[in-house]
Amino acid sequence: MDSILVKGGATLSGAIPIAGAKNACLTLMPATLLTDEPLTLTNAPRLSDIQTMTLLLQSLGAEVQALQDGKVLALSSHTIGDLHADYDIVRKMRASILVLGPMLARFGKAEVSLPGGCAIGARPVDLHLKGLEDLGAELELRDGYVHAEAPGGLKGAVVEFPFVSVGATENILMAATLAKGTTVLKNAAREPEIVDLAECLAKMGARIDGAGTDTITVEGVDSLGGATHPVVTDRIELGTYMLAPAICGGEVECLGGRIGLLSAFCEKLDEAGIAIEETKGGLKVARKNGRVGAVEVRTAPFPGFPTDLQAQMMALLCTASGESRLEETIFENRFMHAPELARMGADIDVHGGTATVRGVDRLKGAPVMATDLRASVSLILAGLAAEGETVVNRVYHLDRGYEQVEAKLGAVGALIERIPGA
Ligand code: UD1
Repeated sequence: MDSILVKGGATLSGAIPIAGAKNACLTLMPATLLTDEPLTLTNAPRLSDIQTMTLLLQSLGAEVQALQDGKVLALSSHTIGDLHADYDIVRKMRASILVLGPMLARFGKAEVSLPGGCAIGARPVDLHLKGLEDLGAELELRDGYVHAEAPGGLKGAVVEFPFVSVGATENILMAATLAKGTTVLKNAAREPEIVDLAECLAKMGARIDGAGTDTITVEGVDSLGGATHPVVTDRIELGTYMLAPAICGGEVECLGGRIGLLSAFCEKLDEAGIAIEETKGGLKVARKNGRVGAVEVRTAPFPGFPTDLQAQMMALLCTASGESRLEETIFENRFMHAPELARMGADIDVHGGTATVRGVDRLKGAPVMATDLRASVSLILAGLAAEGETVVNRVYHLDRGYEQVEAKLGAVGALIERIPGA
């Protein structure tokens, strides 16, 4: 397996183009299952998770073509042969569960393996299943699979989520577009990826109101058509690269970025002493002056501070002046990067869902292990700030969510290279 070698101490300067959002693309792709007409996604990111979703859709009989070096995905579910999403593919990625709602809505039947994904907590799919049951689906869990049927079609209903789930909101939103009558999703997720999905579904002919608020209303239609849709900017990749000059010094412009995608995160950076300027092309980021200050961070569903930027923010706070606190409220086991950062000299105590980070003058390079997607990039960021060399091992997770990380950081002056595995 490949490793990433980072030499610390470089000052960064230049621009980084931000890709389309992995998490948006992973929910837009299954939307193809709702129609027999073509769906074209532009601004797609080139990531292994996108390849996994491609394989999954192809295994169901959909056509998925990667055009323009993977930046455009041409999808067609004209002939779906198999309504069975197999464990062998689904186990690689939790987002695979997103094929369930669309298949059930269009074909009245689906069998989907229970998913895997990053090892950051239990991450059940009970909210997805309960929501589909509310729409009249009959579900049975057997042999690790969800066997779902809706012989007379799905029926609109009020679906109230007990807590906010991005994936469950997406799954039920897609299913509801073809249900008979009106569906109201209450306590829905408000993430930009949900708004992006709703916009794409609307282009396909869906009738959706309220996406981006906590109440989404869907008037079911008989069928959906094709559409062409650009994938929204990846706010997590954006936040990650905004942290690079904050950690290393220098100035980086993140092309395609907008503060509205990450307001809570930008507020925390400002509080920590990082200047963010909106430019014509995106966001320009640099340290205001001197050392970064300590801050208190609490992750929350959008518009709160994203859990997917918690590990990277921790890397920044490792060298801040004073004591910071990071509270993780979304996933129960999402501090696996803390012991790895400690190997680099960070001073971090984790108690339950809270990490206390006491800033040190300088981190020191070390061999470390990437444990999940966002943890792996936090170790790269820490390596950029550390004295000496850091080798991040097991970067398999990194390639799931960041395209060409070494090329993008290298282009702004970071000393980083990939070491191919045996
Ligand atoms: C999505 C993102 C992921 C991000 C997360 C939270 C994708 C592909 N992934 O994941 O990067 O970290 O949102 O912003 O978009 N839960 C249940 N039962 C359910 C569903 C969720 O208990 O049926 C729990 C989860 O275990 C977690 C919390 O709810 O503790 C939030 O999860 P959810 O918002 O559903 O995350 P994902 O959609 O899986």
